[in-house]
Amino acid sequence: MKVLVSEIEIQAAVSRVAAEIKVQEAGGPLTVIAIMTGSIVFLADLIRKLDMPLRVGVIQTSSYRDGEQRGRLVVNLDMMPDIAGRDVLLVDDIFDTGNTLFEVLNMLDEFQPASVRSAVLMHKIGRQEVSLKPDYVGFEIPDKFVVGYGLDYNDLYRNLPYIGVLEPHDLAEHSK
Ligand code: IMP
Ligand code: MG
Repeated sequence: MKVLVSEIEIQAAVSRVAAEIKVQEAGGPLTVIAIMTGSIVFLADLIRKLDMPLRVGVIQTSSYRDGEQRGRLVVNLDMMPDIAGRDVLLVDDIFDTGNTLFEVLNMLDEFQPASVRSAVLMHKIGRQEVSLKPDYVGFEIPDKFVVGYGLDYNDLYRNLPYIGVLEPHDLAEHSK
């Protein structure tokens, strides 16, 4: 597997994002909502660098493809804590087309939080389909399919401590 971003580079990016969040969200309390499962490792590292009062909750998204149509996003909010009147930070692993973040941010608005900002570990360049931009970005990556540090292919590779690029032969090997 080709390493795109090393463990050391990831930790530097997470520290920088945490420092930006601490300045912006001065004092807290902050309610961190992570989109499962891809953001699980980023979430764990990020919150330990945020020495401020905070709550943590998760939501889950999955997209279902019907025929030729673009995947329909299904969002499960069962495990989300109360966010009414609270300052919320929505956390995801990667900003690709941006549709996930766009739809989830709209959905969270209905619960009337005091504020909502978004943090992503990676921003994949050249793929955006929405005008929205995340408030905090760890690093930008080229338009490649990446795995590791929470991100999967067929639910595999989430446990890699670095971000790797999947080569065509890896894709064929693990398509089952
Ligand atoms: P978006 O809605 O197109 O921005 O997609 C965001 C979601 O797609 C992320 O939360 C990931 O779960 C998934 N995703 C996008 N690109 C990659 C990738 O390169 N590797 C693994 N998952 C990805
Ligand atoms: Mg995801």
